[in-house]
Amino acid sequence: MNQSDSLSVLAAAQAAVDAPWYVRHLRLLGWVREIADLTKPERVLWCDGSQAEYDGLCAEMVAAGTLTKLDPAKRPNSYLARSDPSDVARVEDRTFICSAKEEDSGPTNNWRAPAEMRKTLAGLFDGCMRGRTMYVVPFSMGPLGSHIAHIGIEISDSPYVAVNMKLMTRMGRAVFDVLRAEGPFVPCVHSVGMPLAAGQRDARWPCNKEHKYIVHFPETREIWSYGSGYGGNALLGKKCFALRIASVMGRDEGWLAEHMLILGVTAPTGEKTYVTAAFPSACGKTNFAMLIPPKALAGWTVTTIGDDIAWIKPHADGKLYAINPEAGYFGVAPGTSYESNPNAMDTLKANVIFTNVALTEDGDVWWEGMTKTTPARLTDWQGNQWTPDSGRKAAHPNARFTVAATQCPSLDPNWDNPDGVPIDAFVFGARRGDTVPLVVEAASWEEGVYKAATMGSETTAAAAGKVGEVRRDPFAMLPFCGYHIGDYFAHWLKMGKAVAAPPKLFNVNWFRTDENGKFAWPGFGQNMRVLQWIVERCRSRGHAVETPLGLEPAYGDLDWTGLDFAPEKFAAMMKADHKLWVRELAAHDELFAKLGDKRPAALSAERARLGARLSAAP
Ligand code: OXD
Ligand code: MN
Repeated sequence: MNQSDSLSVLAAAQAAVDAPWYVRHLRLLGWVREIADLTKPERVLWCDGSQAEYDGLCAEMVAAGTLTKLDPAKRPNSYLARSDPSDVARVEDRTFICSAKEEDSGPTNNWRAPAEMRKTLAGLFDGCMRGRTMYVVPFSMGPLGSHIAHIGIEISDSPYVAVNMKLMTRMGRAVFDVLRAEGPFVPCVHSVGMPLAAGQRDARWPCNKEHKYIVHFPETREIWSYGSGYGGNALLGKKCFALRIASVMGRDEGWLAEHMLILGVTAPTGEKTYVTAAFPSACGKTNFAMLIPPKALAGWTVTTIGDDIAWIKPHADGKLYAINPEAGYFGVAPGTSYESNPNAMDTLKANVIFTNVALTEDGDVWWEGMTKTTPARLTDWQGNQWTPDSGRKAAHPNARFTVAATQCPSLDPNWDNPDGVPIDAFVFGARRGDTVPLVVEAASWEEGVYKAATMGSETTAAAAGKVGEVRRDPFAMLPFCGYHIGDYFAHWLKMGKAVAAPPKLFNVNWFRTDENGKFAWPGFGQNMRVLQWIVERCRSRGHAVETPLGLEPAYGDLDWTGLDFAPEKFAAMMKADHKLWVRELAAHDELFAKLGDKRPAALSAERARLGARLSAAP
């Protein structure tokens, strides 16, 4: 083909889907055409990521009743969305990994044969965008052009998704400068699953109450999501791409995609240490990522790189380097306050989309735990009048805020560094009222992998289903690993050998309760004392004692300046109760039994060692 022929092919491909001139990627244009032919939207809109576009879409959603504009003086340029009560959380039982072979999805995922699922999706998506606008949302997970970053294109019929993606990712026209004519991208198709007949009035929060499908094809690296407009079900760059699909990419290419925050710790000497931490959903990750140390620990500061996801790759200097693939926070609102997380509260002063929080009489937002005194009257998350004696929550327990990372006062200067930051410690946290001590360091990479693999945590409102049950949540990745969890453990074991200086591994538990059922540890800013010990251990300075569970600080190894915390209380929080550990090991065995021949031998050896150490303990 000569140059003028190829230009006219490109022009025709652009015209067929109303694409702007700067989209020169024929394969991408062909795919958008294919999806438009299938879903039959009324129009196609290519998002450029501009502020004008964002403001315009928000204004349209205000007119449609999807968003309420908050008081411009109290919460400038901010909105409240109320979702359908049937669409308030991730739907793990409707999330599918459609690998070619069932054994590649493993015992922790829902599997469907790809051909069968494609048939189901073809039926669901046929005409599903009728009467709606199809938004083409280009986004980069990670700094634009970074060698650790990857690009996705989300096609969605939800303007709520388009505006949230602007806050959560590097979204817009600049993505096409990186993609050029042939660059790779992950195709993501999303529909709320509610086509509109001619003249039909739209719902305030369109979704499909009967059918929800969150589908991943790991081999072809595709995502299809149907029926939900909420959070991780619909903002496909987050859990679907940055964890489920990226974990498969990482397995194949030798890196890690993890459910981890990233923070920087600066010591009074100016020495900087970067730490990542994995916690299950709604266990205070955003609080930990934005921690403000107590005044008594003068000179220590914490800076924030990310609050939810880390992509981690080996670097030429022999260390693992991490980026935050996201550019915003989709944080849990309830419990966030000037006491628990002042940095988050300051981040939320303006330019925020709140979802399912309560509305105050003066046009601002409120949620449980935000203030000491509860407002006398509110409009609750479902739009009903609410008073403190209503007997129900004003905000949904999984109510969220979406906000750009650049508004965070503790943002680390390296948060957008395309090379990432060198990681010295991996921390694994879980929500456990008992059994697991405040902090313990693994004596080896293999021991740390064993403990992360067998982590259990109480379930939270971030996913639909029962709250408060202990379930195994390996690496806090249970709902997010896109392949067989046994292969994932093996991949982690391998990654410890992929670099000369791998990070040290730690487990923490901020949630242990005392004999009265109250939290035994003050948590929040006081977690700095544990972080400080972790950093000192990474610098080969902190002291630790050997216990059956690993390496632990003695009471005197933590800095207690300014906190009155008795040694007996500390001892109670660190205690490994024999009876509880028998139960705990049985739960590990149950998980391992599901792995069949994918159970790594190194982890069986660790299990034997831990069992022996615990039985030998007095
Ligand atoms: C989240 C989650 O939204 O983990 O971050 O559920
Ligand atoms: Mn998360």
